[in-house]
Amino acid sequence: MHILHVVGARPNFMKAAPVLRALGAYPEVRQTLVHTGQHYDSAMSDVFFQQLEIPQPDFNLGVGSGTHAQQTAAIMQAFEGVLTKREPDMVLVYGDVNSTVAAALVCSKLGVKVAHVEAGLRSRDRSMPEEINRLITDQLSDLLFTPSPDGDENLVREGIDPAKIRRVGNVMIDTLIRLLPRAEQQFPPNVSKPYALVTLHRPSNVDDLDWLRDLLITLTELSTQLSVIFPVHPRTRQRLQTLTRVRAETAASPDPRSLNETKGSGRGANPDAGLTRTAPQLHLLDPLPYLEFLALQTKASLVITDSGGIQEETTFLGVPCLTVRENTERPITITQGTNQLVGRDLKKLRSAAEEILRHTASGEGVPESRNFVPLWDGHAAERIAQIIVRGSAK
Ligand code: UD1
Repeated sequence: MHILHVVGARPNFMKAAPVLRALGAYPEVRQTLVHTGQHYDSAMSDVFFQQLEIPQPDFNLGVGSGTHAQQTAAIMQAFEGVLTKREPDMVLVYGDVNSTVAAALVCSKLGVKVAHVEAGLRSRDRSMPEEINRLITDQLSDLLFTPSPDGDENLVREGIDPAKIRRVGNVMIDTLIRLLPRAEQQFPPNVSKPYALVTLHRPSNVDDLDWLRDLLITLTELSTQLSVIFPVHPRTRQRLQTLTRVRAETAASPDPRSLNETKGSGRGANPDAGLTRTAPQLHLLDPLPYLEFLALQTKASLVITDSGGIQEETTFLGVPCLTVRENTERPITITQGTNQLVGRDLKKLRSAAEEILRHTASGEGVPESRNFVPLWDGHAAERIAQIIVRGSAK
């Protein structure tokens, strides 16, 4: 049996790693790994391959960045050649990025079976590019591996044949469970507690510069109470650079509350170069490797994010999470986890953060209150492998 995996962007790597490993346990399975090159910076890709022990890709399509149409089309064109040459029995696609939908489209046009890992999640917000990717990928998939019951329900509601849906649990949590002991050894020595950990990269938060500036002002205010550690995604870094350029061009006098300049602009910059003059406790860093970021999550007093995966990881770790979005495709992180949506409401963000800090007087997270969502048990990828190879999971 020949299985071909397609990955492209950072969150794909954490999801594919355990599936590659689980399928590797079956001698009858041959695997091919295709990296689309959607993410290409070493800090967004290579370092994840190393830490997650993912083998070198058999193909790197090297598509890079572009508009959605450019990127999706480039992946489709390049992937079609690989698929035709390799003729796998099944293609596995992961998550909801442009690489996911592009590969699923090519497979369905060529009549190659496609399985979607992390199927069925819905934010019901079609202004999110990922929601479009999720809807289309699920419609095209022959086998849909869901992480939680809401995923199954969404798919059935959209007319997907229930026989194609298999609830297996959360592969990202497989990776977390496997690497948590190693991550705990990697806690950055120069970080002192208590601190809040921040990630923001969604277009809805970072492409609107006025909103981004207001968010940064709020983070600066929060940094008077505790350190705020903010590893900055490349998209966000670009927007921050625009923001500081616009400010420099338009501001008659500097705003004392002004955001910190990311002086370490771009690739390979020294993270410490992001420390600021106006808010010495707000640390803007380059993107962090998986283990270091996981280590920081485990000990954070709170996490502020717009990422999907981090809502899940904080739920598993029992760390309070404030999600700066109006909706989530992962409602289980609210009903059974530690996540709260604060929407586009800075007052709510401030008051929710203060409430959390009041409750965690020690200033640390509370790992003993870990929430065990059913099937988020470290074995989701093994179930996927069993279903693919044997037809069903034990
Ligand atoms: C993509 C996914 C998003 C996911 C995120 C995780 C889509 C539609 N979006 O968003 O769902 O949450 O990855 O990180 O697939 N860039 C670099 N170096 C890189 C990659 C990107 O500098 O290695 C810059 C480029 O200027 C690029 C921008 O970041 O234009 C955005 O990259 P892109 O892959 O288009 O989307 P993300 O915002 O990363």
